[in-house]
Amino acid sequence: MTHRTQSSSQPTDTNKRIDSGDAHRIDKRVAMLGAGKMGSILIEGLLRSGRFTPDQIAATVQHDNRAAALAERLRVAVSTDNAAAAREADLIFIGVKPFTVIDVVRQIKPVLTPEKLIISFAASVKTKAIEDATELLGMPVVRAMPNTPAMLGAGMTALAGGRFATVQHLQLAASLFASVGRTVQVDEKHLDAVTGLSGSGPAFIYIILEALAEAGVKVGLPRDVSTLLAAQTTYGAARMVLETGEHPALLKDAVTTPAGCTADGLLELEEGGLRVTLIKAVMRATERARQLAGG
Ligand SMILES: NC(=O)c1ccc[n+]([C@@H]2O[C@H](COP(=O)([O-])OP(=O)(O)OC[C@H]3O[C@@H](n4cnc5c(N)ncnc54)[C@H](OP(=O)(O)O)[C@@H]3O)[C@@H](O)[C@H]2O)c1
Repeated sequence: MTHRTQSSSQPTDTNKRIDSGDAHRIDKRVAMLGAGKMGSILIEGLLRSGRFTPDQIAATVQHDNRAAALAERLRVAVSTDNAAAAREADLIFIGVKPFTVIDVVRQIKPVLTPEKLIISFAASVKTKAIEDATELLGMPVVRAMPNTPAMLGAGMTALAGGRFATVQHLQLAASLFASVGRTVQVDEKHLDAVTGLSGSGPAFIYIILEALAEAGVKVGLPRDVSTLLAAQTTYGAARMVLETGEHPALLKDAVTTPAGCTADGLLELEEGGLRVTLIKAVMRATERARQLAGG
């Protein structure tokens, strides 16, 4: 059963338009198979970019009651029928959990043609596994790894093409993800590392932020002020790296006055092993990303 809202011609909040995407309309239909947390973020981003209207997008989930709630929230058609959504679509996003991806591809196999494009953003599942499951020679597949700051248009998505994905397919996929943040193209062999760094990374940064805010409270700051200082400082430091193009070590040196306070703080960080701990966290997350598709 497909759920629709009564008025589905406009995005819900036009004030939240994000300018990072290309404003030109795209005359293609989208299926978002598995519109969970990340899939919903992408639908909202595509609508806010102004390049798609709600009637161009159909989404699926597993549970019928969630389909109704999602249709109400996103104002797009939502069902539990993957094949029906994929049949009508030119661009088929796959956003289910890694171990469900191949099942979903088998479900939509009868309606696939090489004129359509599959864009999977499931961790771990290789383009070859998806291509093989389509049993269709020449099926273009692009793999993407976005992250949750995409919700604010501040996402980071890495993309890689499968055997049959052309430069045009990759450019199209990149332009879609550009509506929720920055994009970069990588070799597919790097996508598990991307998952470990920028896919999981927001969680690592939240821990750092939480700890900094806690530290501010410890040295006497009100909690709200402390959290604001920690978050804006993290944001500012990230912008410095992105916008100056300087190496983080040089930017760190600029904060570190000889015999000053920062040098003492850095000494504690080194002694506490923050650097090594973060490196190990990314290595472990990458390792896990390599295993996910197998369950
Ligand atoms: N969260 C992240 O930060 C992030 C970042 C990058 C990539 N990803 C990738 O995105 C994918 C989804 O992650 P998520 O965090 O968005 O998970 P999620 O919120 O649990 O979303 C999964 C969605 O898939 C639906 N689903 C399950 N089986 C289905 C089926 N057979 N047909 C259609 N829909 C089905 C679920 O429906 P119900 O709601 O009805 O259960 C749910 O809406 C994963 O592969 C993950 O690796 C996630």
